[in-house]
Amino acid sequence: MAEDSRETLDLERVVCRLSDLDALSARGFTIGGGDWPLRGFVVGAAGGGVHGYLNRCPHAGHPLDLLPQRFLTADGSLILCSSHGALFEKASGYCVAGPCAGQSLTRLALEVRSGFVVLADSVDVNACVAVPPP
Ligand code: FES
Repeated sequence: MAEDSRETLDLERVVCRLSDLDALSARGFTIGGGDWPLRGFVVGAAGGGVHGYLNRCPHAGHPLDLLPQRFLTADGSLILCSSHGALFEKASGYCVAGPCAGQSLTRLALEVRSGFVVLADSVDVNACVAVPPP
């Protein structure tokens, strides 16, 4: 994650302010329009960092926040998929318990620019959209 305060922001790729997150918080975001935008979420990390993932569980492909904006366990230590209870490490996205144990969330590369969390230019939004199964 790099920070350069002189860069201009592509507002379409802004996720949130870095100050909106702490080590016990998470928030969802949507980038793009139409029926199948990129749906992701970010979790705050110890030390002020942030991790980002697609909001798509590797078990059955559901969004993790069955209850809107609820991505974490009650103590904030793990990511929770509310559909069937899978638990994931915040820093790696690795599933430590549940029906998809051993699989991982899909990481989204992020950057911090001028105090904003931004989807990295390297992320192809069109390649990340949640397309319905055939
Ligand atoms: S869809 Fe996430 S645990 Fe089943």
